Amino acid sequence: MSNGNSYLEIKQSPELSGDVSLYGAKNAVLVIMASLLLTSGKSRLKNVPGSSDVLHMIKLLESLGAVVIFDQVAHELEVDTSGVNKWQVRQDIMKQMRASILVMGPLLARFSRADIALPGGCVIGSRPIDLHLKNFEKMGVDIDRSGSYLKTHASSLRAQDIILDYPSVGATENLMMAAVSASGITRIVNAALEPEVLDLISVLKKMGAKVDLEVPATIVVEGVDSLEPVDHDLVPDRLEAGTLLLAAAITGGSITITNAYADHLAVFLLKLQEMGHQVSYGFDGYGISFQATQSPQSVSFKTAPYPGFPTDLQAPMMAVQCLAQGRSVIDETVFENRLVHIRELQKMGAQILVEGSKAIITGVEELYGANVIASDIRASCALAIAGLAAKGTTTMTGISHWRRGYDRLEQKMASLGAFIKLIDSSLFTQKPSDQLSLSIKNS
Ligand code: UD1
Repeated sequence: MSNGNSYLEIKQSPELSGDVSLYGAKNAVLVIMASLLLTSGKSRLKNVPGSSDVLHMIKLLESLGAVVIFDQVAHELEVDTSGVNKWQVRQDIMKQMRASILVMGPLLARFSRADIALPGGCVIGSRPIDLHLKNFEKMGVDIDRSGSYLKTHASSLRAQDIILDYPSVGATENLMMAAVSASGITRIVNAALEPEVLDLISVLKKMGAKVDLEVPATIVVEGVDSLEPVDHDLVPDRLEAGTLLLAAAITGGSITITNAYADHLAVFLLKLQEMGHQVSYGFDGYGISFQATQSPQSVSFKTAPYPGFPTDLQAPMMAVQCLAQGRSVIDETVFENRLVHIRELQKMGAQILVEGSKAIITGVEELYGANVIASDIRASCALAIAGLAAKGTTTMTGISHWRRGYDRLEQKMASLGAFIKLIDSSLFTQKPSDQLSLSIKNS
């Protein structure tokens, strides 16, 4: 899908209101799709978002020999891994999506080898993969780093005690997927336990893997000989939930997200309540109802691994602080350079100072529409949210990021009353049959 001159047009919007539901989590579906390489046969995933990262992962799996059918109307994905016969991830695919690194563990488990093009840095920081690589080496993997590909090989994967210096989501997932077929018991200490990691664990267990959790944050894996294909309904996307709640907050609205889990957003929801907003949950914390205060107070927070405040909601929460009363200090501790949205918010009239990893925001009375550029997925949310409250019209380019993270999120926001639409230049140059490709089976 070309992004050419496409952009989002956002106008100052009335209070959002109504009910909305979430697609499955992008960060769960990508790794779960990678995990299907551990099996041979047909698996089915439900509530799959048609975001472009998912389309990239489909391309990756197809390039390895999988047959994939994505019904974008029903949001169901069928992946047949019987014919997978390659273990090389090409540079063009790796460049489009860094999460491609997540096939390394499953390919090592299936073929005892994986050749992966080197991922570069990206706008939110250098994003090293040292924690993946040094622990793969501990598990008996030889890694040749000399060329433009990481060439890896393990005659047999060794179960190990692994201690992560930092609870990296990707490293936890990659190592766990290799460990499910390493004979013996692997323990991953200081593991990431994000809801998306737990969703991967439930998929691995459905496949027949033996995986347990020990407090406070250890994953114990006992290797098995073979794993079976699965049917799985994905965990709802807590980051899509957070974005919709913030869109409601900044417009002073009132919405219900019918399939959100409050537990997955505990610290984030606490901060919304501290701002003065009302948040209530359904039975067992399932379903979140939100009613905005008309005089929001600033709050401060620090991003942290789960269950702390999610780094992926830092930028959109900052947009909301720009119009709150008082001063907010936001400390981004997870990624080194995830404050690039600030420059664009400043163009809209936000008062923000940066000191190292901290942003200090002084609430203003009004934001103003501007031409802004999204630099990463979550920055695109921040700018769209700011645009909903800004006087006049905001146009946001760089929408490839918006599309990477979400499946037509602008339409969900519009269904709640937001004045937001995608002006898609590619539609002007497409044949009618191409336009339909969004809503038909893409095989
Ligand atoms: C995942 C999510 C991303 C989210 C992030 C943190 C996916 C597809 N993406 O990314 O949306 O923002 O978790 O919740 O699930 N690090 C190292 N060495 C490594 C690996 C990571 O130093 O080998 C550092 C990173 O540079 C970063 C921090 O650890 O500063 C967290 O990264 P990590 O948890 O690995 O994030 P991802 O898995 O890339």
